[in-house]
Amino acid sequence: MQKVIKKAIIHGVYIITAQAEGKKNGMTAAWLSQVSFNPSLLMVAIAPSRYTHGLIKSSGYFAINTLSEEQVEIAKHFGYHSGKTMDKFEGIPHFEAGHGSPVLKDALAYIECRLTNAVEAGDHTLFIGEAIEGEVLKPDKKPLLFVWEEFF
Ligand SMILES: Cc1cc2nc3c(=O)[nH]c(=O)nc-3n(C[C@H](O)[C@H](O)[C@H](O)COP(=O)(O)O)c2cc1C
Repeated sequence: MQKVIKKAIIHGVYIITAQAEGKKNGMTAAWLSQVSFNPSLLMVAIAPSRYTHGLIKSSGYFAINTLSEEQVEIAKHFGYHSGKTMDKFEGIPHFEAGHGSPVLKDALAYIECRLTNAVEAGDHTLFIGEAIEGEVLKPDKKPLLFVWEEFF
């Protein structure tokens, strides 16, 4: 079934960021969707083993950074290494959104969310958050699409 799902379901590529207890981190995520219009709720599926998982639970906030098509190396940087063992933001230009979630200056767009629900679903947790702040930073860029063969 995974073979079919990999071709049938289309995703973008995002860096999900959070900051708690003075630690900031980000990880690449493709499994993300809007799930409500009013209020504006967004969902990202994150495995409990990710360092970012604990930071989101602690802070109660996370930011979604949308990557553009030339940012494959940024997706690999944040997706192949864990913040447990390194500072992934070293050398990456960024600023903090209103509730502290790091924002990549070169992202196509960002949205900071306040965590409203955390739902266990199989081997991932669905973090649902209300969009509270956001901006399109690079209006002329095209989004990066997730293609399994390009990353794994
Ligand atoms: C293109 C791509 C998409 C990914 N999508 C997800 C995802 O949706 N959910 C998830 O839990 N991990 C996903 N990952 C894996 C995490 O980004 C990876 O395990 C990362 O090292 C976790 O970092 P952290 O431990 O610093 O939080 C993806 C990785 C890549 C390269």
